[in-house]
Amino acid sequence: TDAHTAGPFIAAIDQGTTSSRCIVFDTDGRIVAVDQKEHEQIFPRPGWVEHDATEIWTNVQEVVDRAVAKAGITSADVKAIGITNQRETTVLWDRTTGEPVHNAIVWQDTRTAELCRELGRNVGQDRFRRETGLPLASYFAGPKARWLLDNVEGLRERAANGDILFGTMDSWVIWNLTGGVNGGVHVTDVTNASRTMLMNLHTLDWDDKLLHSIGVPRAMLPEIRSSAEVYGQAASGALRGIPVASALGDQQAALFGQTCYAEGEAKSTYGTGTFLLMNTGDQIVNSYNGLLTTVGYRIGDQTPVYALEGSIAVTGSLVQWMRDQMGLISTAAEIETLALSVEDNGGAYVVPAFSGLFAPYWRDDARGVIAGLTRYVTKAHLARAVLEATAWQTREICDAMTKDSGVELAALKVDGGMTSNNLLMQSLADFLDAPVVRPLVAETTCLGAAYAAGLAVGFWPDTDALRANWRRAAEWTPRMDDDKRRREYKNWLKAVERTMGWVE
Ligand code: G3P
Repeated sequence: TDAHTAGPFIAAIDQGTTSSRCIVFDTDGRIVAVDQKEHEQIFPRPGWVEHDATEIWTNVQEVVDRAVAKAGITSADVKAIGITNQRETTVLWDRTTGEPVHNAIVWQDTRTAELCRELGRNVGQDRFRRETGLPLASYFAGPKARWLLDNVEGLRERAANGDILFGTMDSWVIWNLTGGVNGGVHVTDVTNASRTMLMNLHTLDWDDKLLHSIGVPRAMLPEIRSSAEVYGQAASGALRGIPVASALGDQQAALFGQTCYAEGEAKSTYGTGTFLLMNTGDQIVNSYNGLLTTVGYRIGDQTPVYALEGSIAVTGSLVQWMRDQMGLISTAAEIETLALSVEDNGGAYVVPAFSGLFAPYWRDDARGVIAGLTRYVTKAHLARAVLEATAWQTREICDAMTKDSGVELAALKVDGGMTSNNLLMQSLADFLDAPVVRPLVAETTCLGAAYAAGLAVGFWPDTDALRANWRRAAEWTPRMDDDKRRREYKNWLKAVERTMGWVE
């Protein structure tokens, strides 16, 4: 290892939608080693998405061991492990065998759409909004758990007997990491719990009325803890004995890694989906424009910090779809080269409503469209339209954010895999008509989990020390003329219209 990488270190595990990774960081928040492994995406029916939780746990163990090996360090050099994860994805498992009872139901899965409509009729949209900060949508975890209880033979009884455990991926990873059937701790953090529709945003505890309405027994739920505290120790692997000291949903982790610690600070992360979060301090800000209210983070017993969020279901996964399902490109990076071979979108617009539409519409009856096709359109135009779809969806979120918060974003802090796409970043600046800035460490998700774990064990003294690590690496400034922006935005919105009401 380099001279600057003399220990101690923090390791972060990011259990994401398409892959699991482990990154080892040094005291300056610099990356010392990374390892990553993809897992299978299972699509049993249109609109359904599943993961094999056992495969995921195996991958997590592998990437941890390999990252530690690559860093050339031993567990004695690592002060804490931080956990971050794809949110909402739901797994139920047997407490005594440790076996999942079914594939995990992924956040993108829409099978609970009808159940959510029923909840809306019986309990009312407003109740859920008020208590959980969330719109009734198939995106969230609680109804996914209910679906499993209804559809896996004999499960409801086993759950009532206390034999079944519920978890989002943070809980699944932490339970296994801390020993599984041999004394694993069953916990979740406030940020992940805030995505279940089962936690009351005001009390930060499971809410009996919500549990009853959705039909999930309390006996299977993990204990809700803060995002930064020691939950237990790793029981096996290269980091055996090291404290597991943070958990945050990946988007909240990115907010933390981008050092958005002041009210009004925001970031947007470009992964499988895209999620723009704005810190709203200790205020629970209700959205009237299609955003959701969520917990940003809570450090130990400090006051919880809330956030407004604009969630976009499909951005990076649209590029993967172009590659894997359509075969129009052979690597994700190729989308940029292909898009740059033409001047514009040729009149085509792609609206990837694969999981319905998330913010600001929350329409699970929407399905994707390609609009504006003529004989002129080539795959290069489509490549361009695919990238523009990500930028326009962000623009819609920013508009909603401005309406809800009264804050006009002076610049957008971005991170995530897609930010290496220069054309996308330029389109983003153009469509937002605002500068877009990216920090040196674009792996802010892992960084945020590492920061929180480091704070919990005193590796870093406070958030000011973390702020000092944020360095600007790149900036894009708008250069599109207003007329063109207006025209294109109007076309985009017309295309969005056409996705709605597709599913009866
Ligand atoms: O809410 C879903 C989100 O947490 C998924 O993030 O980066 O795995 O697509 P990502």
